[in-house]
Amino acid sequence: MKNNEFFTLANGVKIPTIGFGTWQIPSGDIAYNSVKEALEAGYRHIDTAQAYGNEASVGQAIRDSGIDRGEIFVTSKLPAEIKNYEQAVRRAEFTMKKIGFEYIDLYLIHAPWPWTEIGADYTKENIEVWKAMEEFYESGKTRSIGVSNFNIKDIDAILENCRIRPMVNQIKLHIGHRQEETAAHCTANGILVEGYSPLATGRILGNGEIARIAEKYGKTVAQVSIRYVLQKGALPLPKSTHPEYIIQNFDVNFEISPDDMIYLDGLK
Ligand code: A2P
Repeated sequence: MKNNEFFTLANGVKIPTIGFGTWQIPSGDIAYNSVKEALEAGYRHIDTAQAYGNEASVGQAIRDSGIDRGEIFVTSKLPAEIKNYEQAVRRAEFTMKKIGFEYIDLYLIHAPWPWTEIGADYTKENIEVWKAMEEFYESGKTRSIGVSNFNIKDIDAILENCRIRPMVNQIKLHIGHRQEETAAHCTANGILVEGYSPLATGRILGNGEIARIAEKYGKTVAQVSIRYVLQKGALPLPKSTHPEYIIQNFDVNFEISPDDMIYLDGLK
């Protein structure tokens, strides 16, 4: 197995450095087979969400893989539109039923606002929902908790009002979209940054400037883009439904030089 290294969360829980993302992977055979392929390729970290609608297929693929549950890190997310305590408790239970495990490894608030109101102020509601997250954590049904798509203001509101601090913030992160201030704020507060869409949902793949760097290392644009996120100190969550890409995206044990990192930092 390659890439079986870990980041360590603030509570000591170890999290494999590359996660397999399942956003937009349809439930049923496609999600099931993709997760099976990922586990065969060596991934030990699978990222899903209630909103993806594929938690049941993800859970089934993990069980059918024959790999010990304890070896696989499983993340899911509370839907972004759930902004009160009671609903948060119910939805967390719903995830557990769908995914079919006694525990998951990480549960995130999917976004600080409902997707229909991006940028709206739900500070008070997020603080309330965080209480449900803390209790879910204390119940042992998840080994860690965190947030996703939170900016500095959203994170600070939780930090100022929590008993248990978020351990992760999952944000969109790729070459040309570095979110440096948010990432630095997370790091300063002991919050691991996870990066979704490390390939900019595929838009990065035809980039000639990244292709030139990739050629130097004998790697693909996808591999350089995923490696870049790792070298920024964040945890990449690439996704694919094609076995050859799934394998390729996990094969990123090489080092981008400091000069090339500066060059990639400069790309828009
Ligand atoms: P597919 O799902 O058809 O395999 P991101 O992780 O940034 O969201 O990007 C995911 C997109 O990039 C998907 O459309 C996926 O295609 C595609 N993709 C993933 N890995 C690779 C790769 N190694 N080479 C080319 N395309 C890839």
